[in-house]
This record gives sequence, structure tokens and C-alpha cells, in this order.
Amino acid sequence: MPKFISATPDSRLLPLPWDTPLAEWPVDLLVALPRGLSRHVVRFIQVGDSVYAAKEVVEHLAHHEYRLLQDLNRLNIPAVEPVGIITDRKDASGERLDPILLTRHLEFSLPYRSLFSPGVKQGTVSRLLDAMVVLIARLHVGGFKWGDVSLSNILFRRDAGEFAAYLVDAETGEVHARLSDGQREQDLDVARTNLYGDFLDLQAGGMLLEPFDPIQLVENIIFRYQELWQELTGVEEFSGSEMERIEGRVRRLNALGFDVAEMDIETDEGGSVIRIQPKVVDAGHHQRRLMKLTGLDTEENQARRLLNALDAFRFRAGRGHCDESVVAHEWLTQVFEPVMQKVPEELRDKREPAQVFHELLDYRWYMSQREHRDVPLVEAVTGYVHDVLQRLPDEFMSQDGLLPASEGQRLVNPYDPSQGFMDEGEAPPHDPWEDDIDEVPLVSTYLDIAALRAKAVSD
Ligand SMILES: Nc1ncnc2c1ncn2[C@@H]1O[C@H](COP(=O)(O)OP(=O)(O)O)[C@@H](O)[C@H]1O
Ligand SMILES: [Mg+2]
Repeated sequence: MPKFISATPDSRLLPLPWDTPLAEWPVDLLVALPRGLSRHVVRFIQVGDSVYAAKEVVEHLAHHEYRLLQDLNRLNIPAVEPVGIITDRKDASGERLDPILLTRHLEFSLPYRSLFSPGVKQGTVSRLLDAMVVLIARLHVGGFKWGDVSLSNILFRRDAGEFAAYLVDAETGEVHARLSDGQREQDLDVARTNLYGDFLDLQAGGMLLEPFDPIQLVENIIFRYQELWQELTGVEEFSGSEMERIEGRVRRLNALGFDVAEMDIETDEGGSVIRIQPKVVDAGHHQRRLMKLTGLDTEENQARRLLNALDAFRFRAGRGHCDESVVAHEWLTQVFEPVMQKVPEELRDKREPAQVFHELLDYRWYMSQREHRDVPLVEAVTGYVHDVLQRLPDEFMSQDGLLPASEGQRLVNPYDPSQGFMDEGEAPPHDPWEDDIDEVPLVSTYLDIAALRAKAVSD
């Protein structure tokens, strides 16, 4: 009898064929979703309206990874959510089978292979790399040494105009109270090797063309990480007449998505030299606030945008004096939900509601500019659905996620990408939102800490 260990049990999982090796599961229980490369057998299982990722893995690693994913979720670090482990599996002839680790499928997540294609814009790559660098820094701030940084172990989700990166594979991770420089350096060494391999692989598959260069991409990532780490934790010294530098540092850290838990401030005897060193923690402030007010679970930038929309609603309705949660409820029922209801059912798998709302706000702004009037949101929805949403590839249930876009090949077995591609296929879907991204150089604007410093001084 297989044994279930789970903090959030789902009884619909019990009747599944746990006594069959995962690779031989009947296809009607599985769902084909884009997936990164893996060492283990990984499949997506559908029960009712829930999708789980199942990984067959040796016992001690299954327990280790389950615990670590729980820790990461507690630390509020973006990672897939652990659901349980199924152990004591035996096949028909009584042979022992490895346990299965279950995680909740991260909806709307995109493995990197879905995001790289021959025409990929520099701006897109830049935003992806930034998201990855921020994830590694967040892990390190939380005392987590990953041990296996690679593109296949990261999932990306759209977050307003940027990307948010999630950790997907915690098998090799270790949690410490604090990471030493040496431990961080080890993680970076692994990152260098793995990422270089990943980029070479993309290059060989024709998905990474000039001017992208694997070595340069890797150097860029490491450089940006070092810069971010310095900003997050570095000691800053200045004279007693420049006290505003303390606030400047805090504001820059907030802009990068981190909060300051403590600021160590030392002054020399005469008070003429001040030395500060922040202790940063993960932010997610807007996300938590929106969740509390509306129950909407979004990414940080989406939350910021939705909160702005909520504030605008409050201001326009002249309800500045009312309780915020009452107004939030009104906004949800009078603005957000009616707009979402106007999105045809069959198009709802293309984008998460919060992302649709964010893109719709942009669309409405352009439409208002064009027509020199204040276009109501409900009116803009029709245009947005027609001009944008309808043309987008499905991100939730796409079977095409792993296709190298230029070749438009189809997988031989969509449940197991390692079996390669079939011969012919169609052109890749075109994502009009990517058109707007300017050809910015690979040096990022988001993590451009020098620019951030300059801005903090001039503000
Ligand atoms: N919870 C999940 N949600 C979405 N995708 C997932 C999830 N778990 C695994 N995957 C996909 O499966 C791939 C392999 O999983 P991973 O845990 O990295 O296996 P391995 O230990 O064999 O490398 C990942 O790259 C990711 O694309
Ligand atoms: Mg992996």
C-alpha cells in the first residue's frame, strides 16, 4: 500500500495508479504542459481542476526537497509549492518503486525554452536575466544555498512588464542561518557552469542567435548579481552632513523589491563619519497588501499596478475617507470582476486575470491617447480582447511551449519532451506585447544600480 505524506491532502489523488512507474502512466491522467529539461521522470497530473507536477525521485531526496520547498514557501521566496510525497510504492511484481514528490503546478509559468526563440528581443532577455539574478539574491538573503542554479530549474511568470522567476528544483539546496561569501561563491560557480551549458544548448538549437554570446551572457549575470549583492549588503561610508544618504539607500532597496529589516549605523567619535549597512529582507509588500484587501494573489508589479488602479477608483469615487477594505470590495465587484467577465471564457487560459488587467490598463491608455477622450475600461476590453488577447499563444495549457519557435516542430510525445520533435509543424504564435519592447542593449535598466543611485540623489 502506498503511503501519503502531505500537509494539504487532496483525496482525489488517492485512486491514482501509484503502483505503476510514472513513465508508464496512462495518458488520460496526464496533461501536456511546457517543461524544462530534467534528470528524473516528471509528469503533470490532472485531477479535477487541479494540476500537479509529479517527480519520481529516491527517498531521501524526496523528503529533503519537500522540506526545503516548505521552508522556501515559509520564507516567502518564490518557489513551487510542495504538496506531498507518496512512498512505499511497489509494482505488480513486488519491486520497489521510488517515491513521487508532488508539487502544485505553477500556473502560467514558462520554462525558459518557451521564452527564447530566434527573434528574441534583447529587452526580453535582459528582463529574464534580471528576474533570475533577483531570485538568486533573494535565496541568498534568506540563507538558501541552491547548489544547482540552471535555466531548467527556474520558471518564469509574467509580472506586469517584467518577469518573475521561481525556483523549481530544490533537491540540492541547503538552508543556513546566513550564507558565507564562500558559500555564495560556490553557488555562483555552479551557476556559471550550468548557465553556460544552457546557453550553448540554446545556441546549438538555433534559439540564441547573434548578438547573444553564451560567455557574455554568463558574465553579465554574475556581474549583475555582484552589483545587486553589493547594493543589498554593502557598507557605505559618508560624512555626517549627508544623512539623507541613509534614506536614499532604503529607497533604492525598496525599488529593487527588498525591505530593510535593520540598518546598522555606526558613527565615529566626533560623528563626522557615518557607516551604514542594511540588513535586507524580502519585500512582497504590495502583493501582501492586495491579497489582504481583495484576496487576489498576484506578482509584486501586478499588485502595485492594481493597487494604483484601486487608489484611482477611490479618489474618483470621492471615498478617500472610507475604510480601505470596503472600497477595495467595491472596486473588486464594480470594476475588476465586470471587466474579467467580459473576457470570453475560451480566452481565459491565455493570461492570468491580474496580467490581463495590467495589459488592459495599458491598452486603455493608448486608446484614450488616440481618441483624445477618457475611454472607460469596460469599453476598452472589447478592443483588447480583439487586438491582443485573441492573438496570443495559450500560456496555461499550451502544448507548444517547448517548441523551438523557428522550426515550429511538434513533440513526438508531449508528455515527455526528452523524446524530441516530429518533423513538420506550424509557425510559432506571435505575442504582440513583445513588439513594444524597445531594442535596449543587454545592460539592464531594471537592475541598473548606477542609474538608481543617480536618481536617488537627484530626487
Ligand atoms: N510545480 C511545477 N510547476 C511547473 N513546472 C514544473 C513543476 N515542477 C516541475 N516542473 C517542470 O519540470 C521540469 C523538471 O523538474 P525538476 O524538479 O527540475 O526535475 P529534475 O530534478 O529531474 O531536474 C522543470 O524544469 C519544470 O519545467
Ligand atoms: Mg531540475
